[in-house]
Amino acid sequence: MKKKKVSSVGVTWSGAIVFFILIAVIMQMAILVYDHIRERTDNITWIAVLILIEIVILSAFCTVFDWIRRKLMIESPTQKILNATEKIAEGDFSTRLKITHEYRKYNQYDLIMENLNKMAVELQKNEVLKTDFISNVSHEIKTPLAVIQNYATLLQDDTLDSETRNNYAKTLIAASKRITDLITNILKLNKLENQEIQEKHEAFNLTEALSESVVEFETLIEKKNLELNCDFDDVSVFSSKSLLEIVWNNLISNAIKFTPDNGKIEIFLKRIAKDVEITVVDTGCGMTSEVGAKIFEKFYQADTSHSTQGNGLGLALVKKVIDVLGGEISVQSEINKGSTFTILLKDVVYED
Ligand SMILES: Nc1ncnc2c1ncn2[C@@H]1O[C@H](COP(=O)(O)OP(=O)(O)O)[C@@H](O)[C@H]1O
Ligand SMILES: [Mg+2]
Repeated sequence: MKKKKVSSVGVTWSGAIVFFILIAVIMQMAILVYDHIRERTDNITWIAVLILIEIVILSAFCTVFDWIRRKLMIESPTQKILNATEKIAEGDFSTRLKITHEYRKYNQYDLIMENLNKMAVELQKNEVLKTDFISNVSHEIKTPLAVIQNYATLLQDDTLDSETRNNYAKTLIAASKRITDLITNILKLNKLENQEIQEKHEAFNLTEALSESVVEFETLIEKKNLELNCDFDDVSVFSSKSLLEIVWNNLISNAIKFTPDNGKIEIFLKRIAKDVEITVVDTGCGMTSEVGAKIFEKFYQADTSHSTQGNGLGLALVKKVIDVLGGEISVQSEINKGSTFTILLKDVVYED
């Protein structure tokens, strides 16, 4: 951030000159008073007393003048800042300081006040993020927990036939898996945000890694009778295999989830000089550009009909991974036509 140059409050040239002038005036007045009295009397004690009185009066006047100046220029803003910091320290992040000078006339106090205001804004933002996060997580946990409680109660019925019992058990497993997935995602996101994941970079064949991920989705793809087309360049990269897996898995599972039966999914892997571009195209429900702008936010889910099959953290995680790896991700989509997610990994191509 560029630092603004400001005038200091305590030590200024104008302050020093005013102080100098005051002393000079007192001295000059003393000389004038001395001359004036000398013409009328020779009594040296009397002269000394009068000059002393003159100096005391003028000094008192100057002291009052300086006291008012300090009160206005130093004490008043210091007190304002002190009050604000006390409020912020007590957790009132809505506190803002009013800066009276216009920007180009800022002094050091104005700059401190501006910085305090910025700090309060940041703290307030974090507070909102924190409470939003807690309420989102609680909501996401509450739903599967309610399912678990209901079905566990139902399972206590001894008269249940084995097929129903099996179905209830499957529902229980699915609900607990939702909680596990949620917590795994939160932990991964948290680690990435705190830069704790020291992504182990290694040289590996990206084409093979991506193909292996795709194969894992085969049953899901067959279940929905989706057509799958893949076109992969053969390319090795130096990057984090485990982090990139998070990316493919989320993009491919979203493509499958949001594409109706008999739809089509295409995955492309293209080498462009030292970069790699991966594209996942589907013929699913698509989204508006307003939705497209929000899908990388935590817990955001536009399509509520699928909300039981995820927690809105997948793309937030993907975005974070791409940021950590220094790449780019973008989405193009049209309602009811489909979506295209494109990832660009920069300067990752590895050649022996
Ligand atoms: N391929 C896609 N087609 C249509 N909408 C999508 C697609 N991928 C993601 N979305 C939208 O973005 C939202 C966020 O995605 P994500 O973070 O993976 O959450 P989740 O899959 O848990 O819902 C989804 O709920 C959905 O509304
Ligand atoms: Mg998802």
